[in-house]
Amino acid sequence: MTAAKMPWIKYTTEELMELIDIFQVSPDAQHRIREILDGEAHAPDAGNFFRYYNPRSKVEQFEKQTAQKVGSKHVLAVNSGTSALVASLVAGGVGPGTEVIVPGYTFFASASAVVVAKAVPVIVDIDETLTMDPAAVVRAITPRTRAIMPVHMLGLPSNMDAIMEIARKHNLLVIEDAAQAFGGKYKGRYLGTIGDTGCVSLDAYKVIGTGEGGLVLTNDDWLYTRAQSYHDTAACWRSDRYAVERKTGELFCGENYRMPETCAAVGLAQLRKLDQINQRTNACWTRIRSEAKLPACARWAPVNDPAGVCGYNLAILFDQHEQAVKAITAKIGLGGLAAGDTRGVRDWHVYWNWEHILEQKTATPEGCPFKCPHVVNLPDYRPDMCPRTRDIIRRLAVVGISPAMTDDEASAIAAKLTTDLSVLWS
Ligand SMILES: Cc1ncc(COP(=O)(O)O)c(C=O)c1O
Repeated sequence: MTAAKMPWIKYTTEELMELIDIFQVSPDAQHRIREILDGEAHAPDAGNFFRYYNPRSKVEQFEKQTAQKVGSKHVLAVNSGTSALVASLVAGGVGPGTEVIVPGYTFFASASAVVVAKAVPVIVDIDETLTMDPAAVVRAITPRTRAIMPVHMLGLPSNMDAIMEIARKHNLLVIEDAAQAFGGKYKGRYLGTIGDTGCVSLDAYKVIGTGEGGLVLTNDDWLYTRAQSYHDTAACWRSDRYAVERKTGELFCGENYRMPETCAAVGLAQLRKLDQINQRTNACWTRIRSEAKLPACARWAPVNDPAGVCGYNLAILFDQHEQAVKAITAKIGLGGLAAGDTRGVRDWHVYWNWEHILEQKTATPEGCPFKCPHVVNLPDYRPDMCPRTRDIIRRLAVVGISPAMTDDEASAIAAKLTTDLSVLWS
């Protein structure tokens, strides 16, 4: 007796129900949704989860719609902000013997991406805007410098005019780390679209999220081609899968950084909310800054473009480290690294905790890329190598804000902050 051929469709109601479960839909609603879905005839090719050769690809739609929104010629969706950075660096020819300038205040991934790309990170000071100090960048340039990586920390725009001018003068690439700043702007242009490439993170904690995910933004055809090659195991699945190399440097061994279709589907919906989210956050940020009165020993951190800020933290700089600690530990709703730093809590956003780099820890004993025949000179990696950054961060306290806040709630925060700080400094 021969067994009857079982009709088998790979992705059906079961997979959809697992996705729906993420949204914490009630058991009753889940039951009703399941009934409806079970009553539907599934197309045999339903659930095509591959981005290429897929006329319904969500990744492709997400890339196209993002490109249109931010005004970037190319957008490459990848699986994390870190992947976006590594793909951009590799695309730009960063590799053994080259140096990339990164600020000392950023999430560790900015600097580690440089090491993953086999190059040497050169850590420089920030200024009071909490972003890369252009004067420090100039001092750090050597004949080996290949790229500058400004980071728009806390959704605060870096001084892009100054950084672009330095880069053009010295023929350097600018790779913007806009991981924390998607949708923010500098002088009317979306962050991530000003440098040669821009890198966005879409992880769960960013302005918009796809669970995990990232974007490379660029107007440069060649940088896009190379980033695409690298993100796709050496261009195995580019539009013409069997094409030969069109130009030297197009094909080389890469990673698989492709964004999953499920993430891109979420991204499409999130993208539609991007401007609204940032407008709300910026409105709260502006309101609290204009209404709250700070004590004489504190001031708002200066900003390169207030209209373009999109972060969830409002930065206050105190004159002294001890004052920041006093404000943060008084439990009046202020956060910041200052207090944590004194308790020895390691925060991965400050360079002095990046022991992997300061101590040149590497996955294998050979010590590449720090020890490499191509490396002429290594930076003097020390916890006190950027004293200004350390001083600024230790004087910083932040007020958390959210796009869900109403104007009245923002005003209430401003009033409470004014009172609480005046009591502390009365
Ligand atoms: C400034 C900065 N760069 C890069 C990254 C890395 O992004 P992802 O977590 O998506 O890899 C982050 C994430 O927190 C970040 O804050």
